[in-house]
Amino acid sequence: MIPIARPCLGEDEIREVRRVLESGMIAQGELVRKFEEEFASYVGSKYAIAVSSGTAALHVALISLGVGPRDEVAVPSYTFYSTASSVILSGARPVFIDVDIRTGTMDPRDLASKINERVRAVIPVHIHGHPADLDSIREVIGEKEIYVLEDSAQAHGALYKGSKVGSLGEAGAFSFYPTKNMTTGEGGIITTDDEYVYERARAIRDQGQVSKYEHYYIGFNYRMTEINAAIGIVQLRKLDKFNARRKEIASIYTQELSGLVDTPFVAEWADPVWHLYPVRVREKRDEAVNRLRELGILARPAYPMPLQKQPVMSKLANREYNYLHVLFEGLDYSEIETPNAEKLTKELLYLPIYSCMKDEEVEEVVEKARNVFKSL
Ligand SMILES: Cc1ncc(COP(=O)(O)O)c(C=O)c1O
Repeated sequence: MIPIARPCLGEDEIREVRRVLESGMIAQGELVRKFEEEFASYVGSKYAIAVSSGTAALHVALISLGVGPRDEVAVPSYTFYSTASSVILSGARPVFIDVDIRTGTMDPRDLASKINERVRAVIPVHIHGHPADLDSIREVIGEKEIYVLEDSAQAHGALYKGSKVGSLGEAGAFSFYPTKNMTTGEGGIITTDDEYVYERARAIRDQGQVSKYEHYYIGFNYRMTEINAAIGIVQLRKLDKFNARRKEIASIYTQELSGLVDTPFVAEWADPVWHLYPVRVREKRDEAVNRLRELGILARPAYPMPLQKQPVMSKLANREYNYLHVLFEGLDYSEIETPNAEKLTKELLYLPIYSCMKDEEVEEVVEKARNVFKSL
């Protein structure tokens, strides 16, 4: 069986975790601070604030930017659930924007048609590790006071016109879930150049405290542990190597499979890091996934539906489904159509990719995928 993804951990991570456990200092401390400094420096942002997940990073970033009830936040309709759930958790309302069919990232033209005076932030997602079209999004925003929060959960180290993603918006949010380009077990981090956002985010992730037992803000316990940070410090040092291997695997797939299926498009502004390797199978996608799985290749279909079609999105005004229901009266997102996102949910298939994938595994995926795609 070749999994779709897996974390690539070694003796270094084990040694560093052991050291933390033996020290007895396991809650947020010096290693978290060190990880934050090193991550900020890697991304090229002034500050980084480590938290307990990518979802927490989005949530804290939104609140720190000042987003809340009566605000709206533009999100792409093809992405992981928490890009939109974090907006809802902040009390604001998501505005679902269709995606570019080629890259799967937010379509600036659809954003232009939906932006309104209540929109306080836009969350472009660098989906699959491919950067979103940030300059075109900025052009749509123009002079309006609207913040860009880059959802970089799938794109550690990806470049947009030569700059690392997460350094280009007012804030960035990363996830360190085990299948991501680098991991801390569970974890996330916010990046920003803005001192005000930094100070707020630091407090809000830690019960709103600015000093011990002085609670200035309504906050959460979203702290990262020293155990997670110890893993993160080691993984960050390996990240460029990890990404180089992902790029190598992606280029082999592209070379071997183009002509049989639509291999991923790379925009001229992008140097992607392939968190996922997507191909478009225009017909019989599900059959292709099932046949690959029968052959021991654990390929995965796209996210099952545009985000606004998720069951909860038609029930946001209902107390049973949303504890913030009073903020969503009369809203039902499920009627909104985003045709490109819809198409991607039906056609995308993800092939296994992870940095410690062996050459034999890559060859096996290529051989089996070629056979399956040829016979569709
Ligand atoms: C695009 C995107 N945003 C946000 C998240 C949330 O990250 P986490 O799972 O660490 O909460 C993920 C990861 O799963 C993601 O892929």
